[in-house]
Amino acid sequence: MNSVSTTPLVAISAPVAAELQTYRRLFESTLSHSDSMLHNALGYIRSREGKMMRPILVLLIAREAGVINKKVLISAVSLELLHTASLVHDDVVDESDLRRGHASVNQKYGNKIAVLVGDYLLARLLTKAAETGDTRIVSRIAQLGGTLSEGEIYQLSTSQHDIPDEASYFRIIHHKTAALFATCGELGAVAAQADESFVETAKRFGELIGICFQIRDDIFDYFADATIGKPTGNDLLEGKFTLPIIHALHTAPSPTLLPLIERVKTCSATREDVATLVEYTKSHGGISYAVSLMENYRNEALKLLDSFKDEQVRAALEAYANYVTERNF
Ligand code: IPE
Ligand code: IPE
Ligand code: MG
Ligand code: MG
Repeated sequence: MNSVSTTPLVAISAPVAAELQTYRRLFESTLSHSDSMLHNALGYIRSREGKMMRPILVLLIAREAGVINKKVLISAVSLELLHTASLVHDDVVDESDLRRGHASVNQKYGNKIAVLVGDYLLARLLTKAAETGDTRIVSRIAQLGGTLSEGEIYQLSTSQHDIPDEASYFRIIHHKTAALFATCGELGAVAAQADESFVETAKRFGELIGICFQIRDDIFDYFADATIGKPTGNDLLEGKFTLPIIHALHTAPSPTLLPLIERVKTCSATREDVATLVEYTKSHGGISYAVSLMENYRNEALKLLDSFKDEQVRAALEAYANYVTERNF
């Protein structure tokens, strides 16, 4: 992973640096097994650490709410395991061969193992969550697993029929991405025994950040950049219409693009079709529109931080929100 780009995360996680080390040990200890195939695949996942955006959010919210206790740490581990499982399955669904700068699990071990390892992670994370002894936490995480799957299914089924409108785009990203960040905020607060009003604020902050996160991720796909660590230009090849092109095609419909759009819907677009559509999107303001919506959500998230009392946490979460919208991978 690119060390220059991860530097902001070191500063962002500084108020919870010690707890993040404890979290890491706990996360790694849940990824082991005596069977050699599972042992290998879990070891492979363990060795390709992501940005840890979700656990960092859980810990920062918990620090604002009170104490970073065992329940907070277990919640952070369970949520990152859910994220990890969703990526393992997502790469199978998207037929993607690159993740975190290396071969995806499906590329390295094949689809069958990837599906089963993803399932194993889901079972592990619920067992882990149960160690909190808190049914609210276990039940929220179990519900969230359903929400993430719903998002991926909405995405698959929507594009086949029509170019999605903005409302269906937001419904998809709310389910597949923002719900996870929202639950990180919510459970960081719940596990640290915050009052209900702070739980709601933390949940909304996570939701707004999650929306920004996916819009930014979708924008990546319109640019070729080796530092992202996963393929770009793939969304349209996979039949996925995202916010920039949705905006361009709805505000400036073009009859000459109709055959290309049909090919996107049936996942038979060529690299040349994609290049034409990307160019059209850029020249019709699709990227700048997506950036401006993303910045509105970011600003709404920043406003929520006004009521935060811990100055270090507030500064870290401000930097977190800015990183999500400005990051390069
Ligand atoms: C990727 O999330 C999945 C999306 C929601 C776009 P991250 O970019 O946080 O993935 P890692 O964990 O850092 O690899
Ligand atoms: C987000 O979808 C992944 C999940 C929520 C599981 P994408 O398909 O856009 O994510 P990347 O780009 O593969 O990380
Ligand atoms: Mg994907
Ligand atoms: Mg993507």
